[in-house]
Amino acid sequence: MRIVVVGPGAMGSLLASFLSKSKEEVWLLDKDRARAEKIDQQGIIVEGVSGNWQAKVRASSNPQTIGKADLIIISVKAYDTKEAVLGVRPMVFENTRILTLQNGIGNIEIISELLGQEKVIGGATNLGATFLDPGKVRHAGKGETVIGRIDGKIPVEMRSIRQIFNAVGLETRISRDIKGLLWSKLVINVGINALTAITRLPNGRIVELEWTRRVLREAVTEAVRVAKRKKIKLIYDDPLAKVEAVCEATATNISSMLQDVLRKKRTEIDFINAVIVRQAQELGVAAVVNSVLVDLVKAIESSYKLMEA
Ligand code: PAF
Repeated sequence: MRIVVVGPGAMGSLLASFLSKSKEEVWLLDKDRARAEKIDQQGIIVEGVSGNWQAKVRASSNPQTIGKADLIIISVKAYDTKEAVLGVRPMVFENTRILTLQNGIGNIEIISELLGQEKVIGGATNLGATFLDPGKVRHAGKGETVIGRIDGKIPVEMRSIRQIFNAVGLETRISRDIKGLLWSKLVINVGINALTAITRLPNGRIVELEWTRRVLREAVTEAVRVAKRKKIKLIYDDPLAKVEAVCEATATNISSMLQDVLRKKRTEIDFINAVIVRQAQELGVAAVVNSVLVDLVKAIESSYKLMEA
């Protein structure tokens, strides 16, 4: 199987490194040519909970060089999904499957619109990854990956993907209710990402401090209310307890949104807390705390330019 991971960020680098342990042909597609060449020559250095090791990963900036792919894993930020999917077209053939484990809601829809829903496999991962440098990543936390299709079907290729992931040490299972799963992950990101990005605190600290814990609880309660009104079945009986447990389990993690803010990069706020605000508006329910979190993160994003000036 030819597997192509698209995007050399924290999660893309970690996934490509692990998958390169398999007997499959694994590539990393990076739109930056110089960076792709560096990774192709030096591989990816991984440090963290899986030890210190180096993965030999083939990398290219040119989809034509890679050729037709059996599995393409989209690992770019949610706001870059459309451009990434347009870029992978030369590698797509009839049997290609596209997997997205990205944060937020909306990626499956974007990919489906461009390539057809039958090609798309969604999912969520609790793996922790911190970007250190191009070609260097910290495996910040182990965590389960769950994959599934929007129509609930489990075709044979999905079982193969599960088998490949598990064989390289990425604990993976299949779910028939991917919508419930993605919303459950969304609720976790709603509670953690914006709050850590605004306060610049690691995940564990926001449940230790009473001020941030209060905000986290309000934001999560709003998200759970929206999910309930939309009749989405969350996979946790007590979503709030789950979000707090994730904070504790990933206590020293710098959330992906805080990593973005520290690197002065655009965040995924539009695909996380802003989803709750938009859906709440449509349903006529309140999402005041999420609305404030969105506004503050947007303000931080717009401050990058001022800081450079
Ligand atoms: O986006 C992230 O950083 C992760 O999804 C999570 C679970 C919040 C852990 O840091």
